[in-house]
Amino acid sequence: RPVRLQDYRPPDWLVETVHLDISLHPTATKVRATLNLRPNPGTSPAPLVLDGDGLSLSSVTMDGQPLAADAYVASPDRFTLAQPPQRPFTLTIETVVDPSANTQLMGLYRSSGTYCTQCEAEGFRRITYFPDRPDVMAVYTTRIEADKGQAPILLANGNLIESGDLPAGRHYAVWHDPFPKPSYLFAMVGGTLGCVEDTFVTVSGRKVALKIYVEPGKESRCGYAMDALKRSMRWDEQAFGREYDLDIFMIVAVSDFNMGAMENKGLNVFNDRYVLASPETATDADFASIEAIIAHEYFHNWTGNRITCRDWFQLCLKEGLTVFRDQEFTADMRSRAVKRIADVRNLRAHQFVEDAGPLAHPVRPQVYQEINNFYTTTVYEKGAELVRMLRTMLGHATFRKGMDLYFDRHDGEAATIEQFVQCFADISKRDLAQFMLWYAQAGTPEIIADGEYDDAKKIFTLKLSQIVPPTPNQPVKEPMVIPLRTGLVGSDGADLPLVVSGSPMAGDVITLNQPAATLVFENVSERPVLSINREFSAPVKLTTNLSAEDLRRLAAHDSDPFNRWQAVQTLATRLLVKNVGLLQAGQNAIPDEGLIAALAAILADDRLEPAFVALTLTMPTEADIAREIGHDVDPDANFRARIYLRNEIGTKLQSVLEETYRRMQNGAPYSPDAASAGQRALKNTALDLLAAPGGKVGIDRAIQQYRSADNMTDRMAALSTLSLHDVPERTEALQDFYERYHGDPLIIDKWLTLQAMIPESGTLDRVRSLTSHPAFSMNNPNRVRSLIGAFAHGNATQFNRADGAGYAFIADAVLTLDRKNPQVASRLATSFRSWRALESGRREQAQAALRRIANASTLSADVNDIVSRALADT
Ligand code: ARG
Ligand code: ZN
Repeated sequence: RPVRLQDYRPPDWLVETVHLDISLHPTATKVRATLNLRPNPGTSPAPLVLDGDGLSLSSVTMDGQPLAADAYVASPDRFTLAQPPQRPFTLTIETVVDPSANTQLMGLYRSSGTYCTQCEAEGFRRITYFPDRPDVMAVYTTRIEADKGQAPILLANGNLIESGDLPAGRHYAVWHDPFPKPSYLFAMVGGTLGCVEDTFVTVSGRKVALKIYVEPGKESRCGYAMDALKRSMRWDEQAFGREYDLDIFMIVAVSDFNMGAMENKGLNVFNDRYVLASPETATDADFASIEAIIAHEYFHNWTGNRITCRDWFQLCLKEGLTVFRDQEFTADMRSRAVKRIADVRNLRAHQFVEDAGPLAHPVRPQVYQEINNFYTTTVYEKGAELVRMLRTMLGHATFRKGMDLYFDRHDGEAATIEQFVQCFADISKRDLAQFMLWYAQAGTPEIIADGEYDDAKKIFTLKLSQIVPPTPNQPVKEPMVIPLRTGLVGSDGADLPLVVSGSPMAGDVITLNQPAATLVFENVSERPVLSINREFSAPVKLTTNLSAEDLRRLAAHDSDPFNRWQAVQTLATRLLVKNVGLLQAGQNAIPDEGLIAALAAILADDRLEPAFVALTLTMPTEADIAREIGHDVDPDANFRARIYLRNEIGTKLQSVLEETYRRMQNGAPYSPDAASAGQRALKNTALDLLAAPGGKVGIDRAIQQYRSADNMTDRMAALSTLSLHDVPERTEALQDFYERYHGDPLIIDKWLTLQAMIPESGTLDRVRSLTSHPAFSMNNPNRVRSLIGAFAHGNATQFNRADGAGYAFIADAVLTLDRKNPQVASRLATSFRSWRALESGRREQAQAALRRIANASTLSADVNDIVSRALADT
C-alpha cells in the first residue's frame, strides 16, 4: 500500500471452484477451504500468493498430499507457494478463526449470538487464505456444521442442496451457488432466527422462495421489508428487464453491522434497522430507507453480482449505478419530484462537503491506502449522478438500450467504468471521452449562468462558464461536459419556446463543454426568467444573475418542481448569508418579506403535494449556509441566522401554519404510503415552525402531539420539536420516551440521536454521560453512530464549540473505537472533513485534535488514512 489503479495486473492464478467446510464454534471455528486453482492463461508463470488477515493455518495439502514445510510460507497475512506446478491443482487449506473475538465485524463474527459474515471489501481473507480480489470469480459450495441447539438455522449463498443431523447434537447444511462470484460476495449465517416467508413468481414464471430471518419475536416487523422486496423484484423486471436467477432469496437482519446492508449473492445481510419496522416503532423516514435499501441490495444482483468490478477502483461501477437504480425505484414508488429534491439535499449536505475539503477524491479514485474509506458519498451518490447525466444526455430510450447492451456484453464478468461507458458510446454513436472526466476529476464544478434580455431584438443571451476547483493532488482541471436542462419562464409561468439559430431546440438540454459559451435564444416574446439545471441535471454549484423577483416567479410557477423548490432555497440562502454577516458585525438580522410571501404562496397552493410543501418550508441547514460561505465559517453565527429565520416564519405565517397543521391531520389509521407520509411531513413541519418562536401555545401543541401520537412518526416529530427548546416539557418527554421504549434498542437510538443534536452548551456533557448509560455500548455500531456519530456529524454548533471540547471528545472516541472497530472509528474521524473551512480559532482547535489522533502510538490503517489526508500539507 498505497494501491494504484495504474498498477492493475490480471491475477496470476484463477480459482475454478471453492468448497468451504465450516465447523462453527464460538471461539475456534474450523474452516477447510478446497480451491481448484489454475494458472491464468493470459499471464506468465508466477508464484501463488494468497491473501490473509490475522489467519492461523492448521494444515495444507496439495492434490491431497501434505505439502513439505519448505514448499510454502504462511504468515497471518499471506500464504505463498513460491514454485507451484504450472498446471491446475487442488489446494486444501485449514484455518481456525475466533468469531467471538472479532470486534472489527469484518470476516466471520457473532452478533448477539448469531454467526454471520461481512466480506466486502477485503473480509474473506479473514476467514481463509484466498486471492481476495473481485476479478477472481469462482463457484462456491459451502458446508456448514454447528451445534443444533446453538445454531438451528444454517445459511449460505445459493440453493440448499443437502442437510441433516450429525452425532453429538450437531447438524449440517450444504449450499451451492452456481453463479461464479468474487469472494467479497460470499456469506454464511448460523444461529437461532425467526423467519418470515413469501414467494415471488418471476416474469418468466419461475417461483422464488423469499425468506427474511430476524431475531425470534421480531417477525411481525418484517412485513414492510418483504413488500418492498417483492416490489423491487417486479420493478427491476419492468424498468430494466432484469429477472431474479436463483430459486431462493434470503435476507438476514443482524444487530451489529458496520454499514447499512450487504448484497451477498442470494443471502443479503442487513443492519436490522433497515429491515424492522412497524407503525409504532418506525418513522416514515425509516420506512422510506428500508424500501430504498432493500431495493438497493436486491438491484445489486445484476449491477454488482452478475456483473461485478474488475478491481476496487471501479467501485462506483456497481455502487453509483445501483444507487441510481434505487433512486429511480423510489421515484416510481413515491413522488419523483420529492425524491429528486431529497436526493439533491442529501448530495449537497454530504457529497458537496466532502468534495470541498481535504478528503475530496474522484468518483473513481486513482489511489487508495484503505479501500474501506472509499465507500463514500462521492463514490455512491455522485456516482449515481454520473449515470443520471448519461441518461439526460442520451435520452431515456437510448440509455435503456445502453444498459441492455451492458448486461448482454458483460454478464458474468468483472468489468470497468470504461467498459460501462463504452456500451453507451456504442449505442448512441457518441464520443463520451470528455464525459470520462467526471470519473477522474474531483471537485464540484462551479457554473455561472448570466442571462440578458434584449427587448428590441427579442433575444435572450445566456452566458455560461465553468470552473472545476482544485482538489487534493489535482491542482488543474480540464473543462467538463455539463448537461443543463433549461427553460425560459414567461410572466404567466408557462415556458417560452427555445429557438436557437433559427430553429427550435431539440429537447431542453444545453451542453456546456467549454470553459465558457454564449447562447442566443431568438424570438423571445417577453423578458423571460431563466430556469436552468432543472431536475438538477448536473451535480454542480450554480450562480445566476436572477433577481429576487425572478426567483419568486420561479417559486410560484416553474413547471419544473425541482427549480420551484430551488428558487425558495436560493432566496433563503441569500438572506441567511446576509444575516450571518450582519450578526458577525454585531448588528441585527433582517427579515425578507419577499421570501415570506413566497412561502405563503406555496402554502396556499393546494395543487402541490404536501411532501413538496414540507420540503419547501424546510430552510437551508447550517451546513448549507457553511458551504455557501465556504471559508472562515462561524457555526454559531450560522445557527443564529437560521433560528432568526425560523422564528420569522413561525411568527409571520402563524395563522396559515395553524390552518395547515389542522388540515393535515387526517384521522385515518397510520399507513406508511408516500401520500400519508407527505401529509405527516407537512403537519410536522408546521408544528415545528409554529413552536420555533418558543411561545407557550407552540410548546403545548408539541407536547400534546407527543402524548397522543399513535405512531412513531408523529411522536418523534413532536419530541424533536421539543428538543430544540429548553423547557420542562422536553425533560418530561425525553424521560417518558425512554421509559416507553427502553426495551427496544433501535428506538432508543432515536432517543440518543435527538439528545446528541440539541444545539445547547450542555449537550457535550449530556452526550458524555450517555456514553455510560446502560442503553449505550461502544461495541455496537448503531449505538455509536446514534450518539457519538450524531453529535459529530449532526450538531454543528456543539461539535464545533469554540473551546475545542467537542473536537477533543470526538478525538478520544476515535482513539477508543479504533482499538475495537477501525471502520467505525474512521467513519467518525471523517466528521473533521470540513475543518479547514472554519474560522481560525476553531481551525486551530480542530487541527490540534487531528494531530493528537495522528500521533497516537497505534493507529489502524483506516484512521491513519483519514487523518493523514485531513492534515496533508499542514
Ligand atoms: N456493498 C454494500 C452496499 O452498498 C456496502 C458494503 C460496504 N463495505 C465496506 N467495507 N464499507 O450495499
Ligand atoms: Zn451498494
